[in-house]
Amino acid sequence: MNLRINNPMIYFFGALGGLLFGYDTGVVSGAILFIKKDLHLTYMTQGLVVSAILVGAMIGAAISGPLSDKLGRKKVVIFSAAVFCIGALGSAFSVSTNMLIFFRLILGLAVGGASAMVPTYLSEMAPASTRGALSSLNQLMIVIGILLAYIINYVFSPTGDWRSMLGLAFIPGIVLLIGMTVLPESPRWLLKKGMENEARAVLDHMRKGIGVEDEIREIKRANAAENGGFRQVSERWVRPALWAGIGLAVFQQVIGCNTIIYYAPTTFTNVGLGNSAAILGTVGIGVVNVVITVVAIFLIDKVGRKPLLLIGNVGMAASLLLLGFVNGFYGSTHGAALTTVVCMAAYIAFFSLSWGPVVWVMLSEIFPLGIRGIGMGISSVANWFANFVVSLTFPILLHQIGISTLFIIYGAMGILAIFFVRKFVSETKGRSLEEIEFDLRDKEEKRQHASVTA
Ligand code: BGC
Repeated sequence: MNLRINNPMIYFFGALGGLLFGYDTGVVSGAILFIKKDLHLTYMTQGLVVSAILVGAMIGAAISGPLSDKLGRKKVVIFSAAVFCIGALGSAFSVSTNMLIFFRLILGLAVGGASAMVPTYLSEMAPASTRGALSSLNQLMIVIGILLAYIINYVFSPTGDWRSMLGLAFIPGIVLLIGMTVLPESPRWLLKKGMENEARAVLDHMRKGIGVEDEIREIKRANAAENGGFRQVSERWVRPALWAGIGLAVFQQVIGCNTIIYYAPTTFTNVGLGNSAAILGTVGIGVVNVVITVVAIFLIDKVGRKPLLLIGNVGMAASLLLLGFVNGFYGSTHGAALTTVVCMAAYIAFFSLSWGPVVWVMLSEIFPLGIRGIGMGISSVANWFANFVVSLTFPILLHQIGISTLFIIYGAMGILAIFFVRKFVSETKGRSLEEIEFDLRDKEEKRQHASVTA
C-alpha cells in the first residue's frame, strides 16, 4: 500500500472505472453502423454485438460483489481494469462476428464489476459529510466516458474506423490498472477482515488524523453485530435495504434513461432530423449530461438524495409525457421535432441531476458492511437486467406502438417511481455508513416490538 498518493488522486483513480463503463457502453451506438457493413451483420447479430456487453455486465456484477467481500474492493477493481484492457484489444482486433460478440461479453464482465465496485470503494473511503459528492464522481466519469464515446464516434465516422473506436478504450484501461495498484484498500473492508493497523493507517492518511479513532470504533461496533455472507441477506432487518436497492436499480432503467442515451440518433431521425443534425443533437445530449452531473455533485450533500430523486422524477415524467403527447397529436411536423429535441434535453438534465448519480451513490450506502458487496452485486445485476430488457425492446416497441405511446409508458413509470421513493427509500445524507446500518436494526426492533405489543 502506498500512502504517499494524495486524496484527490485516490478519488480520481477510484472513480476512473466509471469512465470505462460509460465509454464502452456508449461507443457501440456509432461503431455499429460500420461494423454492420464490415462483418456483414444480420439484425440478430447486430443485437448480439450491442447487447452482449449488458449480459456480461450482469455476470460481472454478480461475481464482483461476493468476490469483493472476500478479496477486497481494490483487487476487484484491478481485476476489472485488466479485463477492460483485454476486452478493448480483443474487440478492436476481432476478425469475425463471433469473436467480436465474445470480446464484448468479456468487456461486459469488467463493466459490471466496475459498476458495482467503484461506488462501493468511493463511498467506503469518503467521510460522511461529502460522501454523496465523492461517490458521484463515479457517475461523472460515466457521463464523461459516454461523451468521449460520442466525440470519438464523430471523429472516426468519416473513415468508418470502428476498430479504433473500440480499441481506444485500452488507454483509460491501462491507466486505471496502473493507478489502482498504488491506491489503498478500503478501510472498512480492512477492518472487516481484522486488519486494524492497516485500516488506521489509511484513515489517518485520508482524514489527516481527525476523528479516526471514533470512526474505527463505530465500524468495529457495526462489524461485531454482523454475521456477513449470504445467510445475512435473508435476515429480516436487511430486507428493507434490499428492496430499496433493487427498486432503485430497476426504476433507474425502466424510466427510460438508456433509450435516450443509446438511441438518441434513432429517435432524432425518427422525428425527421437529418443524419448530421441527429449526431450533433446526440453530442448535445452528452454535454448536458456532464454539465448537470457537476451541478448534482454540488447539491447531493446539501439538498439530500431523496429530494433530488423526487425533483428528477417530476421533471423526467413531465418531459416524457409532453414528448409523447406532442408526437401523438402533431407528429411529423417541425414543431413536434423541435419539441422532441427540447424534451429529450430536459429529460436528460433531470436524469443527470437525480437518478443518474443518486442511484449508484445510494446503492453503495444502504447495505450493512457484512453484505455490502453482495447487496451491491444483487442490485447491480437487477440494474443491468432491466437495462438489457429496456434496450432490447425499445427498437421493437418504437416500431410497433410508436414513439408517442412508448414515451408515455416510460413517463408513467416515472410517476410510479415517485410512490416507490416516498415509501421505500430513506435519506442517507450526512450520516455515516454505520449510522445508516444501526438505523436499519432499530427499525426492525421497533417493528418487532410493535407486533409483540399489538
Ligand atoms: C446508468 C446507466 C446510464 C448512465 C448514463 C448510469 O447511472 O446506470 O445505465 O447509461 O447513467 O448517464
